[in-house]
Amino acid sequence: MQFNDDTKQNALSEIAKAVGREEVEGFMREFMFLQQLYNSGIKEIKTKLEILDDEFSVRYDHNPVHHIEYRLKSPKSIIEKLQRKNHPVSVASVRENLYDVAGVRVICNYIDDIYKIVDFLTLQDDIEVVRIRDYIKNPKENGYRSLHMVVKIPVFLSTGKESVNVEIQIRTIAMDFWASLEHQLKYKSTAKSSDRIKKLLTECADEINEVDRKMQDIYKELFD
Ligand code: GTP
Ligand code: MG
Repeated sequence: MQFNDDTKQNALSEIAKAVGREEVEGFMREFMFLQQLYNSGIKEIKTKLEILDDEFSVRYDHNPVHHIEYRLKSPKSIIEKLQRKNHPVSVASVRENLYDVAGVRVICNYIDDIYKIVDFLTLQDDIEVVRIRDYIKNPKENGYRSLHMVVKIPVFLSTGKESVNVEIQIRTIAMDFWASLEHQLKYKSTAKSSDRIKKLLTECADEINEVDRKMQDIYKELFD
C-alpha cells in the first residue's frame, strides 16, 4: 500500500524552475535513475521486513507486522525540501542531504514489536543504521509517537553497488490511527488550529497510548 506525499506530481515544470531550462533534460534523466534507485531501496527493506514477519509467524506464531506502507517522495517535495534547507538542487545533493526520499512505514500490532523490528534490522550486516529517533520514549509535544529509523542499504545494479538511505517509520496500529487523523485534520482545515484543539489532540494521543500499553500488557499476560 502506498502512503501519500502531500504534493501533487508536476515534475517537469518544477524541476525546470529549480535548475533552469537548459539543464532540465540531463537532470531529468539522472532523476529518473535516482527514483529507480530509491524504489529499489524500498523493495529491499520491504522484503527484509516480510521475511522477518514470516519467520516470526513460523517460529513464535506471532506476526509483529500488521502491514507495510511505502512512498517515494515526489520531485516537487524533494525540490521544496532542498530549497527550504538551503541545499543545492542536484541529484548529488539529494543523495547527500535527504534521508526521506524513500519512505517505508511499518505498522505493528504491539509496542514491543517495534523494538524487535529495530533490533533485528540493526543486526543485519548489510544495513547501516544512520540514525534513530524514538518518538515513543520521547513523544513530540503534540503527542506524536513513532520510531523513525534511517538506514543505508546496498542496491545491486548492472553498474555496481549503490547505497541508498531509506527512512523507516515504525508505529503501532494505535499510533498510526492518531497520526493519520491528525495529519488529515492539519491539512484539511484552513483555519489555524486553536490551543484548545491542539490540547484535545494531545489528550487523544495520550489516551491512545494508554490503550496501547494495556493491550501490550494483556498480550504479555496471555502469551509470554
Ligand atoms: P523533515 O521535517 O522531513 O526534515 O524530517 P525531520 O528530521 O524533522 O523528521 P521528523 O522526525 O520530524 O519526521 C518526519 C516525518 O514524520 C513526517 O514526514 C511525518 O510523516 C512524520 N511526523 C512527524 N511529526 C509528525 C506529527 O506531528 N504528526 C504526524 N501526523 N506525522 C508526523
Ligand atoms: Mg520534521
